[in-house]
Amino acid sequence: MGGCLCLRRMKIFLTGASGFVGAAFAEAAHRRGHHVIGVIGRSAVAGPGLAQKIALDLTDPAALTSALFEHYPDAIVNCAAVAEPAQCDADPARSEALNVALPTQLAQFANHLSARFVHISTEQVFDGTAAPYTTDSRPNPVNLYGRQKLLSERAVTAAARAFAVTVRAPLLSGNSPSGRRSLHERLFAGWAAGKTPRVYSDEIRQPCTAGSLAEVLVELCERQDLLGVFHWAGNEPLSRHELARRVRAHFKLSEKSAPLAAITRADTPDVSPTRPANLALDLQPLAGIIKTQPESFEAQLDQFVVPPPFRDWYHAQK
Ligand SMILES: NC(=O)c1ccc[n+]([C@@H]2O[C@H](COP(=O)([O-])OP(=O)(O)OC[C@H]3O[C@@H](n4cnc5c(N)ncnc54)[C@H](OP(=O)(O)O)[C@@H]3O)[C@@H](O)[C@H]2O)c1
Repeated sequence: MGGCLCLRRMKIFLTGASGFVGAAFAEAAHRRGHHVIGVIGRSAVAGPGLAQKIALDLTDPAALTSALFEHYPDAIVNCAAVAEPAQCDADPARSEALNVALPTQLAQFANHLSARFVHISTEQVFDGTAAPYTTDSRPNPVNLYGRQKLLSERAVTAAARAFAVTVRAPLLSGNSPSGRRSLHERLFAGWAAGKTPRVYSDEIRQPCTAGSLAEVLVELCERQDLLGVFHWAGNEPLSRHELARRVRAHFKLSEKSAPLAAITRADTPDVSPTRPANLALDLQPLAGIIKTQPESFEAQLDQFVVPPPFRDWYHAQK
């Protein structure tokens, strides 16, 4: 696939600018010289890279429409969502509004404006029984979050076939704006609270950093010839237990100060049916087309910092 490489400075309307991926996207797009208008929700803060910040409730279609008409963007990047399966279960109406209705409205608007539309889905559209998953594999979500994200993929493609691209992303690593959101930050939160995180030895994930995903999303804003659904992740499928062990070793924490309890899916029969076992992804054709390359978990670890909320605890262990 070739052509359609957009090298001009784009005006990008970014939702979820205060979130984990959105903040990373704003920085990456700014570095590439784009003008990013970021929507934040209830958070007072957003990271660097935003040319403009708008506080908006994205479940209010009228307010969203008027903001879009006011800015008339070249591209819309949707990083807003209810991105936690448990939060979807806790408030299905809110998560339907954010995870399905919002991307549908944004895609319709992108189609109307002939603007590029970049959306994020999840590996959780798969059931975890037939990894590695290609873009041709049959989705079969086992939880509400996965079902809503699958509905969003289909609605987005239907509404903006000539403009939309969706990336299915894996479990995300890296440094989040809150210091509490990512894979290693959650482990630190447990350890600092004196807990022993329970980690599955038979659940396989293929994480990448939010920064790596953000670089891909920026490339996809520029590569307007890439349409439909693609996969992105790191290049190493690992068990959650192995991921946690590697985080602990990387930060040189002892087993005493940073304990881990390895469990198996059989230990949690009540929740395991809603947790896909193996979500390894095949990254072709995207990895063969774009400049960003998937990273090993070792390369990801090198980018992790001690999460600011847990610095005192960390230094007390040394
Ligand atoms: N994190 C992961 O491991 C992961 C893995 C795979 C795929 N994904 C996907 O990646 C995308 C980004 O996820 P993330 O982890 O960056 O999510 P996140 O950190 O939870 O951020 C969610 C964003 O949505 C915004 N938002 C929520 N409700 C809103 C509302 N009513 N009005 C305005 N803004 C609202 C939040 O704004 P405020 O906080 O300001 O309210 C925040 O900026 C999602 O599509 C998610 O499904 C994430």
